[in-house]
Amino acid sequence: MNFNSPNLSSNRKSKTFNNPERFIEGWYWAISSDRLRVGEVKAITLLGRDLVIYRGKDKKAVTFDAYCPHMGAHLADGKVEGNGLRCYFHQWKFDSEGFCVDIPCLDELLPLQLKAWPTAEQYGMIWVWTGEFPLEPLPFIPELEAQDFDVTIISQFIANCHPHAVIINAIDTQYFNTVKRVPVENIFEPQELNQNAIAFTNNTQGRKGNYLSKLIRPFYKNDLNYSVCYWYGSTSMVTFMPNFLHLHFMLTLRLIAGGKTEGHTILMIKKRQGILGRLYNRVVLSLGKVLSQDFLKVDAKIFEKIQFDFRTPVKTDQAIMQFINHLERQPALSWGTWQQARSLRDPEPRDNRDKWRDALND
Ligand code: FES
Repeated sequence: MNFNSPNLSSNRKSKTFNNPERFIEGWYWAISSDRLRVGEVKAITLLGRDLVIYRGKDKKAVTFDAYCPHMGAHLADGKVEGNGLRCYFHQWKFDSEGFCVDIPCLDELLPLQLKAWPTAEQYGMIWVWTGEFPLEPLPFIPELEAQDFDVTIISQFIANCHPHAVIINAIDTQYFNTVKRVPVENIFEPQELNQNAIAFTNNTQGRKGNYLSKLIRPFYKNDLNYSVCYWYGSTSMVTFMPNFLHLHFMLTLRLIAGGKTEGHTILMIKKRQGILGRLYNRVVLSLGKVLSQDFLKVDAKIFEKIQFDFRTPVKTDQAIMQFINHLERQPALSWGTWQQARSLRDPEPRDNRDKWRDALND
C-alpha cells in the first residue's frame, strides 16, 4: 500500500470518517434491555433524532418517532396499552406498526401512521436500524453466529471525541505495542464480510522473551489469536485470549451532540452447560470485567483530551487505513435528520448505494 497516495495519506478527504455530521446507516444501541420493562415507554435521542421506545404486552420493544402526528405531543408522556401506545394529549392510540387505531372524539379513523423504526434485542441491549429496512444483521461475531452465549454489560461511558477515534484503537498496532505492551507482533489480515462488516485477524506468534507471553504461552494450542470484527464503523467485536477460552468483547458506540461518543462495553462467552459450566462462565466473565475495566482506564485518559486528527499515517497504521477505506464505501446518513448524507465533497452519493442494493437483490 502506498501511504503517500492522496487518498490514503490523511483523513482530510474522508467523507464519513471522523465527521460529526454523518454516520453509517445501520444498527445502533438505543437503551439497555433492563431499562425498559413491559408497559414502560421511554424518550431517547439516537444520533440526533428524538424517538420513543416502549415494550408492549408481547414483550417486544417498539420504536417510533417521538412526536404525535396530531399536534406534536411527546409520546413518552403517553401510555402503553396492550401492544400499542396512546398519546397523553388527546388520547389517540397507535398500534405497534404505528397505525392510528383509536381516536376517541371521532367515529372514523384517519389514515395515519407514525414512523416506526426496525427494532431488535440482543446482547442485553435494544437496537434500532436507522433506515427503512434492515439491510444487514445485528453486529455479530462469526464464531458465535450459531451459538448461545452468556453476556455481561461492563460499562456505559462518554468520550470527548468522535466514535471513530475510539473504535480504531483495537487495530492500532503502535498503541498496542507501546502503551499496552501486548506480547504480539501485530500483522492484521483484513477480510470484508459484507458492505458493513470488516474483520481483522492476527495470528502471529507472541514476542519472545516477553514475560506475559511466557506466562500465557502454555495455554495456546497454536498461535496467539486476536481478531476484531467492525460493524457499521461503530461497533467492534474483539475476540481474544487462548483458544480454550475465547472471550469476546464488544464496544458499541454512537455519535452524540458535539461530535462526542456514547458507548457501552459488553463481554460475551459461549454458553456452557451444567453447574460447573455456568460457574466457569460466571468466573471468567467476572475476571474479564475486572481486566477490561483496568484496560479501559488508560483509554479513558487519552480520549478525554485528544483533539483527534489523523494527519500522518505511517506504514504500521495500515489496518486503520483499511478500516477507513471500507467505512467510506458504506452508505452514510446525516446526524439529526437520518436523511442520506450529501455534501460538496460527495457529489454522487446514490451510486454506491444503488449498486449495493442491486447486488443484494440479485
Ligand atoms: S397530540 Fe397526540 S393525540 Fe393530540
